[in-house]
Amino acid sequence: MDKLIDKLTIALPDDWHLHVRTGSILKTVIRHSARQFGRAIIMPNLKPPITSVEQALLYRNEILAALPADSAFQPLMTLYLTGNTSSEEIQKVAESEHVHAFKLYPAGATTNSDAGVGNIEAVYPLFAAMEKHGVPLLIHGEVTNAEYDIFDREKIFIDSQLSQITQQFPALRIVAEHLTTLEAVQFVEAANDNVGATITPQHLLYNRNAILAGGIRPHFYCLPILKREHHRQALLKAATSGNPKFFLGTDSAPHPTSLKENACGCAGCYSAHAALELYAEAFEQAGALDKLEGFASFHGADFYRLPRNTGTITLEKNSWSVPAQYEDTDNRITPLKAGEQLHWQLTAACNG
Ligand code: NCD
Ligand code: ZN
Repeated sequence: MDKLIDKLTIALPDDWHLHVRTGSILKTVIRHSARQFGRAIIMPNLKPPITSVEQALLYRNEILAALPADSAFQPLMTLYLTGNTSSEEIQKVAESEHVHAFKLYPAGATTNSDAGVGNIEAVYPLFAAMEKHGVPLLIHGEVTNAEYDIFDREKIFIDSQLSQITQQFPALRIVAEHLTTLEAVQFVEAANDNVGATITPQHLLYNRNAILAGGIRPHFYCLPILKREHHRQALLKAATSGNPKFFLGTDSAPHPTSLKENACGCAGCYSAHAALELYAEAFEQAGALDKLEGFASFHGADFYRLPRNTGTITLEKNSWSVPAQYEDTDNRITPLKAGEQLHWQLTAACNG
């Protein structure tokens, strides 16, 4: 049936996990998100991290100032949870119109996570405060100890930390960010309705061969790292199942090409340039284009208790070439599928 579909209009989607950075990179990347999404949850892992509502509001203003003049795109801000986060700050988030959640990075788990939480049990009182005030907690779910195999870090985090957090704080709304394994999918499916999850385009489209087979390809290196094919299949099944626990979060994470193509390349895939087109490829592969709208436009808004967007976007079956680089005077960013063809193209977007 999907084979006959060559045009798709869906409600305007949102991106529930996005890195836009700051300064000149921000100006280059934000227009990509703004042309296809109504809103995005903005990650707080700047250097230094965004840890207070006051900082988040300044960052929000910087993002708004970087948007194209006619854009109605709304950045939804988050705070970076640290061992020093106070319960007063949690209350401020609960009262803020513009700050929507806290992000937990286990210390050292990923790009700019040095300020993250070392001992997670030590911040349980903060989880209790978030539970009480109805503030969602977004979790980068990986253990960080050097002795753990990088491909096992998500599963070990779920078994040793996340299952305990969800048991102790059943009313805390948790987003398990960027799922990468079958076990993570099963965990989210079995958890109560306060547990949701985002899934990235790269984890739906690629397995770990993309990074390592036939040469080391740093533009596919992100964290949590791509896994085996059966995990990709499980993610595709979850994303296209219609289950409202699963929603779109690109984790688009721009880095200068020079820092990716490096002896110690940094983690993050840039996907904002073609986010919806990439998801459409994955959903089409699964014969489930009819499930894209729920995943991209409804489930996340419902989970965050925000109104669904009233605008629409249209995707058409047209082939186009992804540029090799996106450049401004200061930066060069290599996007996902650089120099390759995509078969879906965003042809219209209207923000209600
Ligand atoms: C992200 C980044 O670059 O900020 N990198 C990544 O590989 N996903 C951080 C993160 O979300 O883990
Ligand atoms: Zn991220």
